[in-house]
Amino acid sequence: MAETVQHVEIRPAFRTIGTCEIEIPPPACIVIFGGFGDLTRRKLMPSLYRLHKQKLLPEHFFVFGADRVKVERDQYLETMRTAVKEGAPADYDEEGWADFASSLHYASFDFDIAETYVSNLKDKLVPLEGKYQTAGNRIFYLAIPPTAFETVVLNLDKAGLSKMRKSGYPYVVIEKPFGRDLESAKHLNRILQACFSEKQVFRIDHYTAKETVQNMLMFRFANAIFEPLWNRNYVDHVQVTVAETLGVEHRAAYYEEAGVIRDMFQSHLFQVLALTAMEPPVTFEADAVSDEKNKVFRSIRPFPLERLAEFVAIGQYGKGEIDGEPVPAYREEPGVSAASPIPTYAAMKIFVDNWRWTGVPFYLRSGKRLKRARQEVSIHFKAVPHLMFADMLENSIEPNTLIFRVHPDEGIGLTFQTKKPGTRFCLSPGPMVMNFSFGSAGLDAYEWVLLDCMLGDQMLFLREEAVEQTWRLLTPLIEKLEATTEAGIFPNYASGSEGPEEAKQLFEKSDCTWMPL
Ligand code: BG6
Repeated sequence: MAETVQHVEIRPAFRTIGTCEIEIPPPACIVIFGGFGDLTRRKLMPSLYRLHKQKLLPEHFFVFGADRVKVERDQYLETMRTAVKEGAPADYDEEGWADFASSLHYASFDFDIAETYVSNLKDKLVPLEGKYQTAGNRIFYLAIPPTAFETVVLNLDKAGLSKMRKSGYPYVVIEKPFGRDLESAKHLNRILQACFSEKQVFRIDHYTAKETVQNMLMFRFANAIFEPLWNRNYVDHVQVTVAETLGVEHRAAYYEEAGVIRDMFQSHLFQVLALTAMEPPVTFEADAVSDEKNKVFRSIRPFPLERLAEFVAIGQYGKGEIDGEPVPAYREEPGVSAASPIPTYAAMKIFVDNWRWTGVPFYLRSGKRLKRARQEVSIHFKAVPHLMFADMLENSIEPNTLIFRVHPDEGIGLTFQTKKPGTRFCLSPGPMVMNFSFGSAGLDAYEWVLLDCMLGDQMLFLREEAVEQTWRLLTPLIEKLEATTEAGIFPNYASGSEGPEEAKQLFEKSDCTWMPL
C-alpha cells in the first residue's frame, strides 16, 4: 500500500503538573513488538495508560501491538485492560480505559517472515496513520527476547520501515539486555548501524530515568559544596545496592539464560556507577553526558580472573519467607532447571583507575528474594584524621555518609555526628534527610523513557560505546564464573535473608561497612 502521510503541524506544547512543566511530544505511533508479552503488560501498557490519564501523550497518537499470539482485537483489549488495572490500579477507571483503548490496535505476527512486515505491518499502519494523523512518526519498540532483535531489525529494514523520511521519523527502541556478551553486542550494533542511524536508536535502561538517579547528576553538578569532596581524598568507598524481594516470577526462560550479572549489572548498576563517578560533562547534552560515562567504563580495572573470590561473590536463593509468606527456592520456580547454576545474586568490588578515584573501591550488590526491596547509592566519606574525644567515647564514631535513596522513600540523606545533651560526653549520628515529593508529577521511570523517546531526546538512553564497554568488562567475568561455578554450591542464601555470607565477607574483609538491608 502506498504511503500517503498527512502533514500535521508539530508545535511543542507543555503541560504543568504540580511544579513540573512537561513537554508534550509531537504526534506518534508506537509499534510494540512483543505487544502481548510480559514487559508490555507489566510496564508499557500501565505507563502509557497513566500518561494518557495525565494528558501527556500526543493528541495524535496510537499503539499498535504486534505479537505471535493469535487473538482478535477484542481479546487483546481485554488482556491489556486487566494489565492496566493491575499495573495502574489507582489511575484506572472505565471511562479513561475506554478512551485509551480506542487508540490500541493489534496484529498477530510472525517476526521471522520478512513479507509479513509489509502485509501485516506497513499496510496496516498506513491507514491508521491517516486516521490518527500521526505525521508518519513511528516508534518500533522491541519488547522481545534479545535473540529476536536482529531478525526484527533486518526485516524492518527490508520492508523499507527503517529510513528517515521527510514526513516522519522511525525510531527503534531496544530493551536490555543488549546482547549476551561483547561479541553479540558488537554484532547487534553493526546490524543497527546498517539499518538505522545512531540518532534513531534508543537503547533503553529504565534505571537512568528513576527520579533519584537523575537527581544524582543535578545534585553533583548544581551544588558547589560537594564537588571538592567527591574524590579519593575524602571518599573512602562507594556502595550501590539494588535488592529485590521479587523472585524470578514467570521469566525463567529468559533468566536461565541471563542470570543476575547480565540482568542487573551490565546495564542498571553500571549506569548508576557511571553517574556517580563521572566527571562534569561539558554541556548537559546526551552526547556530552554519554562521553563522560564512557570514560568511567574505560577506567574500570578489569577483574583479575585468577583472584576472583577477592572481587566477586555470587549466590542463588533457596526457599524461605518473604513478608511472612513461604516462597520456593529458585530451582523450584516454574521453568527453572532443578540443578540450575544460574546466580540470582552478585556482589562486586570495582576500582575506577583514574585521577579522581584511584584506590577507592566501589561495591555493587544486587539480588532477588532478599529481605527488603531497597535501591540506593551511598558515598562513605573518610573518618576524621584524629579523634580528640576518643578516650571519652564508648563507641567509635561512624564517618559521614551521603545516601541517594532510589527506592523506597526516594530522597537524599546525609549522616553526621552531633553531640547529645547530657552530662556524659556523647555523640550520635544525626541524619539530614530530604524526601522528594513530586505529587502527581511523579512519573515512573518507564513513563519518562517513553516520553523522552517520543521527544527524540536520547539523554536517558545508552550509546553504542556504553554497551560495548560494559560487556568488555563483564564478558570475561561471566565466562569464568560459568566455567567454574559448581552447581553444588547453590542455593547459598535463604529467601528473605541479607544474601549470601560470601558477599558479606567480601565487603567486611575490605573494611567496608556492610549496610544491612
Ligand atoms: C529489570 C530486570 O530490568 O529490572 C528485572 O530484568 C528486575 O529482573 C527489574 O526485577 C527491576 O526494576 P525495578 O524498576 O523494579 O527496580
